[in-house]
Order: sequence, then structure tokens, then C-alpha cells
Amino acid sequence: MIEREKVRLSGVAETTLATLYGKAVASRAADPVLVDLDAEGAVERLDYDFARLGVSRDSALAIALRSAYFDRWTREALSDHPDATVLHLGCGLDCRARRVDPPPGVRWYDVDRPEVIELRRRLYGEHPGHHTIGGSVTDPRWLARVPADRPGVVVAEGMVQYLTEAEGVDLFTRIVERFPRGVVMFDACSSLAMRLGRHRKALRATGARPGGWGIDDPATVESLVPGLRLGKQQAFLGVPEMARFGWQTRLAVALTKHFPAAQKTGRLVRYDF
Ligand SMILES: C[S@@+](CC[C@H](N)C(=O)[O-])C[C@H]1O[C@@H](n2cnc3c(N)ncnc32)[C@H](O)[C@@H]1O
Repeated sequence: MIEREKVRLSGVAETTLATLYGKAVASRAADPVLVDLDAEGAVERLDYDFARLGVSRDSALAIALRSAYFDRWTREALSDHPDATVLHLGCGLDCRARRVDPPPGVRWYDVDRPEVIELRRRLYGEHPGHHTIGGSVTDPRWLARVPADRPGVVVAEGMVQYLTEAEGVDLFTRIVERFPRGVVMFDACSSLAMRLGRHRKALRATGARPGGWGIDDPATVESLVPGLRLGKQQAFLGVPEMARFGWQTRLAVALTKHFPAAQKTGRLVRYDF
């Protein structure tokens, strides 16, 4: 009999249960885009009603696909910087370090709000060479304690949309100023997506409020955060895996071809510094 863990998360911290559940559902599919046995096991162990988050099959696929892209981009960044310090910001209950299996010289920091990190430690325990920090990414104090003698590889998945523009710009500026060089990657929502996204079921169920940083053109981040240079970007609606989605999603995506602003609602972006 599995001993189930009580969950006491609300607001933005609770949104990690939607992405965890999405990855678990997608991982169990035939021919999965992402295999995530940690997510599958965690969903079994948590005493929580995941149905209330309204994660559909296609949302689960989208969540898993985003993680699969960031896993691949993280491996690429670590092959360029095999001695990096990784900051996995807004990590939630995601076990990217186990999926990516970084080279032995990498230091890995999972950072999220204290209540999420506390649940993470209960679920997964502690691992050597792998650190967890409970704090807000908007608080400069924890970053000052992270050693900055090596390149930084920063992955922030599903998090930047909860920051205001000023908070996001301050965070990335501190990172660029602290590390000698490195990579920053995150998913960016356009201002249209930020407005439309407010009504998503997972946001209504958790009470999480988006911060409002809509990014219509990823190149503008270069001038907001001096030192960042846009390396690559992937529009979410342009992924080759779109054929895996259900017909309603594919039809909606096909219709966006007539509305250029709608095609660029979500992007994965990578900057170098
Ligand atoms: C949608 S979840 C994504 C979790 C994980 N990255 C994933 O993809 O499965 C958003 C996460 O960002 C975290 N987050 C949002 N704002 C934060 C902040 N200011 N400081 C630390 N974590 C934050 C939340 O607590 C939550 O775990």
C-alpha cells in the first residue's frame, strides 16, 4: 500500500500539479513524446484530485512536448558547457535532472517557492550534487549564495508568465551580471496569449494570477537585458509534432494561419550571454 503525501499548495505553487499530471498522462501514452517515470510515480503518491485542473489529453501532450524540447535544449547547452551550474527556475515537481542526466561536472540547483520545495523533498528525497532552494526567483538573496565561478545554464519552464516584466528583467539581469557566460531558456507568451490565458481552467482552479509579462518579439529582450543575445526560438504552434494532436486542436491551429498574431502566441526561446 503506497503511503500518500498530503498536498497543501495553492495559487501559483499549485500550478505545478497541472504540469506534473500532464507529464504523467503523456508518459503513459503509446509512443510518448516524453518518458517521465518520476511524474507517473509522483501522481500515484500524491493525495490530490488532479481532475479539478481540467488537463485534457491535448494539454497533457503540449505540456510533455514543451518539456521534451527543453530537455533537448538543456542537453545541448550542457554539451557546450559541461562544467555548468544549472539553475532550474520554477522547477515545481519536475525531475529534469533525472531525465537529462547531466555530465558529472555539472552543479544543479532546483529553485521554487518554499512550499513547493518542501513537497519536492518529501516526494523525491535529496541527491548528492543536486541542490534545492526554496525561495522566490524575484528575491536576489539566494542567487548571491550560488557559486558563480562557472558558466550558468538557466531553464525556466512555465514560470516567466507568472512574473511582471520588471521582475523578469531584474531576474535575468542579475543572472547575466553574476555568471561569466552561459545560456538562458524559457517559454515566452505573447501579450495576446497572456490575455487569453487568464481563463484557462488550471488557473481558475488554483487561483494563480499571471504576472503579465507578454513578449511579442523575443528580440526585444536583448535590449531589456543587456548581454542576452537571442540564439534560437521555436514557435509552439509550428512544432512538427502537431500531427499528434487531436483534430479540434489541429483545426484551431490551421485557422491561426489567417491571423499572424495568433501564430506567435507561445514560443520557446534561448539566449546566450
Ligand atoms: C506551471 S508550474 C511549472 C513547473 C515546472 N517548471 C514544470 O514545467 O513542470 C510553475 C512553477 O513556477 C513556480 N513559480 C512561479 N513564480 C515563482 C517565483 N516568483 N519564484 C519561484 N517559483 C515560482 C511555481 O511555484 C510553479 O512551481
